[in-house]
Amino acid sequence: MIDELFDRNALWALAKTKADPTYFRRLAAQQAPRFLWIGCSDSRVPANEIVGLDPGELFVHRNIANVMHTGDLNLLSVLEFAVGVLQVEHIILCGHYGCGGVRRALSAQGGALVDHWLAPIVDLYRRERRRFDPIEDEEARVNLLCELNVEMQVARVAATPILQAAWREGRRVAVHGWIYGLKDGLLRDLGVSRDGCEKTAIEAAESGERRIDPAPIDDWSEHVRKGAIHLLEAGSPCGCAAPAAPRCVVAAEAAE
Ligand code: CO
Repeated sequence: MIDELFDRNALWALAKTKADPTYFRRLAAQQAPRFLWIGCSDSRVPANEIVGLDPGELFVHRNIANVMHTGDLNLLSVLEFAVGVLQVEHIILCGHYGCGGVRRALSAQGGALVDHWLAPIVDLYRRERRRFDPIEDEEARVNLLCELNVEMQVARVAATPILQAAWREGRRVAVHGWIYGLKDGLLRDLGVSRDGCEKTAIEAAESGERRIDPAPIDDWSEHVRKGAIHLLEAGSPCGCAAPAAPRCVVAAEAAE
C-alpha cells in the first residue's frame, strides 16, 4: 500500500525529467518563489495544484482552518523568511468553503486540543453573531464564517511586526484574502487585501468603513499551550476553565 507512493514518485520524477531534462537541476540550484500561501491543511486544497504552479514557485504554510495565531512560532518563522529572505511580494491567505475546522468551531463540540486551536474562530463568530442570526441554512452559516475567518486572518497577518516593519521600509508586499470552492475548484478574491497603504483602523472607523477586528490582543497561544499540557499530562481531553475561553463561554450560554 504505502510502497505504492515510491512507485508513483518514480513515475512523477520520470515524467518531469522527460518534459524538461534540467527541471530538477534548476530547482535544486535555488528556491525563488514569488508567493507565500497560507492555507488549510484540508487534503482537498492542494496549494500548488490549485494555482497551477510547480514546486519552487510557491512557499507554503498550512494548518487547520488557516489560522494565524499571534504566538505561532511556526507560522511567524515562515512569514519572516518569506518576507525577509525570499522577498515575496504577495502573501495569499486562502480559506475554503465547507472547512471542517470552521464547521467544528460552529458546532457544540469541544474538549480536544483542536478546540483551543480554533478558539479565535469561535470568538469571531461570537463577535459577528448578528450577521449569522438571519441565516438558517447550516452550510451558509459555515461558509459565511469561512469568509470572515479569512478576513480576520488577513488582518492578523497584516498586524504582525514582520509586515508592519516591511511596510515602514516602503517594501511592496500585499496580503490577499482568497477563498476556494471545493465544489467548483475555483478561487475567489474576497477583496480584503492589505498592502500597508490603507487607512489605519481609526481612520477606517471614522469613515464608517466596516472592518473585521483582527483581535490579536487576546493571545490564544497561551491557551493552546495549556490545552496541549492537559492532553499530554492528564492524557484526557481538556477541562480548561479559563474564563476567557470562548468554548467555555459558548457552553455557558447553552446552559443558560
Ligand atoms: Co479547512
